[in-house]
Amino acid sequence: MATTEAVLNSIDANRDAAVGRLFDLLRIKSVSTDPAFAAECRRAADWLAGELRGLGFAAEVRTTPGHPIVVGHAKAKRKDAPHVLFYGHYDVQPPDPLELWTSEPFAPRLAEGEQGKEIVARGASDDKGQLMTFLEACRAFKENGGLPCNITFLFEGEEETGSPSLPEFLAANKDELAADLALVCDTGMWNAATPAITVMLRGLVLEEAIVHGPSRDLHSGLFGGPVVNPIHVLAKIIADLHDADGRIAIPGFYDGVAELPEDVADQWRALDFDEAAFLAAVGLTEATGEAGRSVMEKVWSRPSCDVNGVVGGYTGTGSKTVLPAKAGAKFSFRLVGKQDPEAIVEAFRAFVRERLPRDVTVEFISHGASGAMQLPFGSEPLNRARRALHAEWDKEAALIGCGGSIPIVGAFKRDLGMDALMVGFALADDCIHSPNEKYALTSFHKGARSWARILAALAG
Ligand code: BES
Ligand code: MN
Ligand code: MN
Repeated sequence: MATTEAVLNSIDANRDAAVGRLFDLLRIKSVSTDPAFAAECRRAADWLAGELRGLGFAAEVRTTPGHPIVVGHAKAKRKDAPHVLFYGHYDVQPPDPLELWTSEPFAPRLAEGEQGKEIVARGASDDKGQLMTFLEACRAFKENGGLPCNITFLFEGEEETGSPSLPEFLAANKDELAADLALVCDTGMWNAATPAITVMLRGLVLEEAIVHGPSRDLHSGLFGGPVVNPIHVLAKIIADLHDADGRIAIPGFYDGVAELPEDVADQWRALDFDEAAFLAAVGLTEATGEAGRSVMEKVWSRPSCDVNGVVGGYTGTGSKTVLPAKAGAKFSFRLVGKQDPEAIVEAFRAFVRERLPRDVTVEFISHGASGAMQLPFGSEPLNRARRALHAEWDKEAALIGCGGSIPIVGAFKRDLGMDALMVGFALADDCIHSPNEKYALTSFHKGARSWARILAALAG
């Protein structure tokens, strides 16, 4: 087996070619939420399968009820090598609002930024750039004597819409996807100099509620007063969701939420999270939410509930005296610990139904429900990854939580019995999901080197 040094040198030598390959992937407009881009999603899947085959790995594009899933298999050089499943997503968020981009979202370019050179394009960071760090590490092994681990590749195209097809795919392909450990590159660093392993990831429940009142839109003069207004009903329900201490008032909501273990809490305190800067970056000065808890704790290890959108009545220019027949809202719940997504859905729906006046009905639409994920502290793969990251960045890796969600990660544990080692190189100002998304060239390059070291470390 080639030394890790040779593999790292090969990553260095192929730097420009690697950027070129990522640019090819970034040119594909694989927006998963909009059916108009379905063919582009297919193209991204084909492209990735082509890359895997180009490396001499077996790879297939599997169709699903939604966008296709790419599955690949690569054998390690050694027979007794560990087996990892690498997961990434090739789909991206819509680039809108287009007018706020300084260049075309699907015409990747290199720009000079605060962190030096940056790759600017939709998906540069989330998740095409991150996914390719892993492929580039594999390429370097392949060209230098072979892989240290057996690898199953799993690339999906529906992460940004909640991974609706993936759970069934996992269940139907349990044997093929079995591995010792999942590796996920879809999270961030602590800061530009400090690598991180994400050991806690929040789950996500997405619910839409549409409240119906009168049988049609009414004149608010002729009917206002005696007639129930669905917007008022919905607004009251939304107001009731949080109590005066910022806690979520749905009965049973906190079942399965545990206090942070003391050693983790200590580590997090040592990171010295700057709350004022976190708030100032978005134009604010005061934190909300549960009383008596730090911002970091609230984002990383406490559940939350947000209304993501409200519609109803007349919202056009000028005024219209209408008493609307219906009103709707979209809700997101971020889950932690052992909170049960299905139980949260039921509790939320009951909470809403209990607050409906006579004659008012509600219709619910589920947009997904996934649980939180927690990597056992002090596990062997975690320690090996820590040492590997330390060697690459010359700095101890931070063990962090993450407020965002990767819907399928909970299912890796539940359905495949695998923990997920989440290592990513995104930076807080990468503008993922926003205009001018970018990925630092150092993230891309040292990310690939980091994976090379992690794979070598996992193989021992
Ligand atoms: N990669 C992100 C999640 C993330 C963001 C992890 C920042 C770590 C740091 C992922 O692609 C994402 O955007 N998830 C969505 C899922 C939703 C659209 C179903 C989320 O968290 O909102
Ligand atoms: Mn992502
Ligand atoms: Mn995303």
